[in-house]
Amino acid sequence: MRSADRPRRTCLTVPGSSERFLAKAVQMAADEVILDLEDSVAPGAKEQARELVVAALAGRWPEGRLLAVRVNGAVSPWAYRDVIDVAEHSGGRLDAIVLPKVSGPGHVVWLDLLLGQIEQAADLEPGRLAIEAQIEDAAGLAAVEQIATASPRLAALIFGPADFMASLGMRSLRIGAQPEDYAGGDAFHYPLMKILVAARSAGLQAIDGPYAAIGDIGGLRAASASAAALGYDGKWVVHPDQIAPVNAAFSPSQEDYDRAESILDAYEHATEVQRRGAVMLGGEMIDEASRKLALTLAARGRAAGLTRSSAAP
Ligand code: GLV
Ligand code: MG
Repeated sequence: MRSADRPRRTCLTVPGSSERFLAKAVQMAADEVILDLEDSVAPGAKEQARELVVAALAGRWPEGRLLAVRVNGAVSPWAYRDVIDVAEHSGGRLDAIVLPKVSGPGHVVWLDLLLGQIEQAADLEPGRLAIEAQIEDAAGLAAVEQIATASPRLAALIFGPADFMASLGMRSLRIGAQPEDYAGGDAFHYPLMKILVAARSAGLQAIDGPYAAIGDIGGLRAASASAAALGYDGKWVVHPDQIAPVNAAFSPSQEDYDRAESILDAYEHATEVQRRGAVMLGGEMIDEASRKLALTLAARGRAAGLTRSSAAP
């Protein structure tokens, strides 16, 4: 399966400098675990965190769990060594590198070339290591379409609300939550939609960023539901308690899943047996566009482990 097709409903970030958190992460039920070398690691702890992360990659990660490392940004002094050490010692278990603060396509091209060199030298499958690019400043958002097509390794674009708020000068200290005094609706609608359109036009996933208030599960659910409704594939989580609500928000409900499967069956019958392009199902007209919507929803339901309920028609 292409990396861009693997479920990323929840992407759990784990500080690379904490041996305890790294050990615990192996058991977490997030779709993806991201071992972090960037902003959750203090500058003085970068080198040691790199060693801990390399050691953690050799742990007993469950089969099927996406495993990624967030390296430092392409213009930082740590980035090249992060990529080389992590990719060279990944033992074929690492799935992706998360590249933060991508402000132009050149950052992705640099990483793509470096990964290609390492794959050859370390005898890794060519193209095995995917790239996930964080879009988190004004320059990155302005160049997001060029970024999305900068490498065939790209699997996802990720919105980074904290750095984005800082870059724009938004007056809020609450990461992932709406700025309190903003009266215009959703302050993140524009970047979220722009990233989503760029991602989809390049065949990539779109992932929402973190919600930092760990105790505010209601706020987290609302932010997740909104991103899922827009079309996002998943969201970053920063604490184990955030995994279950975010997995739920990015999985279709049983009712919607059953309806999607029914639409697919009814439309197939209509087009192939009755030779009609539009039919009624449960009081609603369905046509080819309904089929496309149902396909996406049904695929997400199956990926989340749903099966058709016996009560469904
Ligand atoms: C994540 O990296 C963010 O900046 O929100
Ligand atoms: Mg950031």
